Amino acid sequence: MAIDFHWRLPTHGCHSSIRTHNYDRGDWSPADDHRIAPGLDANGEADGHAYIDHLAEIAKAAESVGFLGGLIPSFPNTDDPWVISPLLARETKAFRFMIAFQPGFGNPVQVARASASLQRATGGRSLFNIITGGGGPAQLWWGDSFSHDDRYGRTSEWLDVFRGVWNSDDFSYKGRFYQVEHGGLPAQLRAEEFPEMWFSGSSEAALQVAAKHADYYLSWLEPFAQLADKFAKVKERTAELGGEQKCAIRVDLVARKTEEEAWYEIRRGFENVSEATRDQWRARAGDSVGAARLAALRPSEASRWEDLIIAPNLWGGFNLLRGGPSIGIVGSYEQCAERLDDLIRLGADGFILAGTPHLEEAWRVGEEVLPLLGHNAQALLEAAE
Ligand SMILES: Cc1cc2nc3c(=O)[nH]c(=O)nc-3n(C[C@H](O)[C@H](O)[C@H](O)COP(=O)(O)O)c2cc1C
Repeated sequence: MAIDFHWRLPTHGCHSSIRTHNYDRGDWSPADDHRIAPGLDANGEADGHAYIDHLAEIAKAAESVGFLGGLIPSFPNTDDPWVISPLLARETKAFRFMIAFQPGFGNPVQVARASASLQRATGGRSLFNIITGGGGPAQLWWGDSFSHDDRYGRTSEWLDVFRGVWNSDDFSYKGRFYQVEHGGLPAQLRAEEFPEMWFSGSSEAALQVAAKHADYYLSWLEPFAQLADKFAKVKERTAELGGEQKCAIRVDLVARKTEEEAWYEIRRGFENVSEATRDQWRARAGDSVGAARLAALRPSEASRWEDLIIAPNLWGGFNLLRGGPSIGIVGSYEQCAERLDDLIRLGADGFILAGTPHLEEAWRVGEEVLPLLGHNAQALLEAAE
């Protein structure tokens, strides 16, 4: 079966290296010389570039090495994925754009119409990462004070309505959060391909909503046995509803010619972590079960980068070096490919990969790691003959 490989588009800014802490690509940090798509000149004046020019370079690089599409995250500190994706679609040929989105922040009928229009305009190149939010201050930033499970209830109803108006010209719905009477998109929009749904969240509520609505259940990387257990659970919930669940993993890589070079990057990055970042790392806010699962794996103190090695080629300190989840893959090109192969054997049908800086690492991972996939399995088969 074909495995879907997507790359991440860093709408939160990008570092020029995993060793540095500054978002020094684009205009997310104060002006500096020698930057790619600086946005501001050395005097702090706009220079005609916008950050989206840099995102377009990343999308083109990822497309050129064979990634199917790019995830566009959505946090209080990012650009808006709905605005970014159609602009980038005009810069690429077939690259798909995975819009991260919290249902409930937009009326489902209006979003269905916008989404169908986007499909129509881009030749069906958009898909979703359905997120339901991690609670805490970030949730309130959005003006959303719903409880964890109510958020999932709202997500589920939202997806019912979204699908309903796409599939019918006379759709009515009476839910707790949404009511529609005689709705339905116009025929030319309903004819558009329904966007693929990738779905994130680790709580029981998330697994249940994923079972009903997701094409791909999406997880951050966790230790392999723990991840296999979660995949088994969501597949079980989906089977109970008569479906079959595909699964996917979102993970950062540091891939280098040799394992030593890869760990050297991590060590240099770790040496540059400030005390303020460490304080943030120790603290935790919100009600995200997925984030709690990752936090439970980390030592309360990590004075050495080696303290965060949690399995061969797995390092649990990525969130010290950049925003996002903690566990990533570190190793030689061959080792990175082997770990991805392990994850495919474990049940992954798709990946969203990332590396810092996103532009150069898209080329590196696409050219050096992805071609080695399946190599190990083939070698084992040949050895067995
Ligand atoms: C792969 C992945 C990507 C995510 N991307 C985002 C994002 O872009 N914005 C966001 O606010 N939350 C994001 N989240 C967090 C989700 O909002 C998720 O709903 C949250 O972890 C709470 O769910 P839980 O309690 O069911 O684990 C992501 C989660 C995963 C697993």
